[in-house]
Amino acid sequence: MSLKSSVFIATSLDGFIAREDGGLDWLDAANATVPEGEDCGYHTFMNSIDTLVMGRKTYEKVLSFGQWSYGNKPVIVLSSEKIEIPADLHSTVSHSSESPQELYTRLSQKGLKRLYIDGGITIQRFLAAGLIDDITITLIPILLGNGKPLFGSFGKDISLRHIATKTFDFGFVQLTYQVVKTT
Ligand SMILES: NC(=O)c1ccc[n+]([C@@H]2O[C@H](COP(=O)([O-])OP(=O)(O)OC[C@H]3O[C@@H](n4cnc5c(N)ncnc54)[C@H](OP(=O)(O)O)[C@@H]3O)[C@@H](O)[C@H]2O)c1
Repeated sequence: MSLKSSVFIATSLDGFIAREDGGLDWLDAANATVPEGEDCGYHTFMNSIDTLVMGRKTYEKVLSFGQWSYGNKPVIVLSSEKIEIPADLHSTVSHSSESPQELYTRLSQKGLKRLYIDGGITIQRFLAAGLIDDITITLIPILLGNGKPLFGSFGKDISLRHIATKTFDFGFVQLTYQVVKTT
């Protein structure tokens, strides 16, 4: 089986993953309405991936929470610059400045099966390189008007095949798509 790359992310209904300043207060407020024990498929998804690949800005945001959420799961942080990795994360977090294609090829050769690609700019770069296989978006019932977008301009259309829609009583709607590969 070849290496798959997946997106699993929450956005406002108008397609933003964070406020301009990176703020996630709207997402925290929405998550506070989720009944205990419901994780919208997050743990099942996490159990299906070998490694997380995240952009430097997402990494810095996650670090700012003060509590590392990914346990022993390997995390590769993409940045053109050197990044700070706290001593207690040295065994799981690594840095790369490879292009999406270089990273994909290297991890593929290592025998990995599924990557979790996270961060708006990072997802856009992997999509533009034709390296995303499936996308799960949990729509949060809020319009932010502006912020950091999940998607951008790719210079070409990217066709998607609808796989599933799940609606939650508390107002979230989760859409799963497969990316139609054209090459
Ligand atoms: N709503 C959600 O579920 C969700 C999920 C994830 C993140 N977020 C939020 O989204 C925000 C971050 O997203 P973002 O779109 O601003 O950025 P991002 O994708 O997290 O990070 C972008 C940075 O990643 C680095 N990068 C990406 N690909 C690279 C490559 N191939 N080679 C070298 N460097 C690469 C660059 O860092 P350098 O500039 O250092 O070169 C780039 O500036 C945060 O606020 C985060 O909390 C929300």
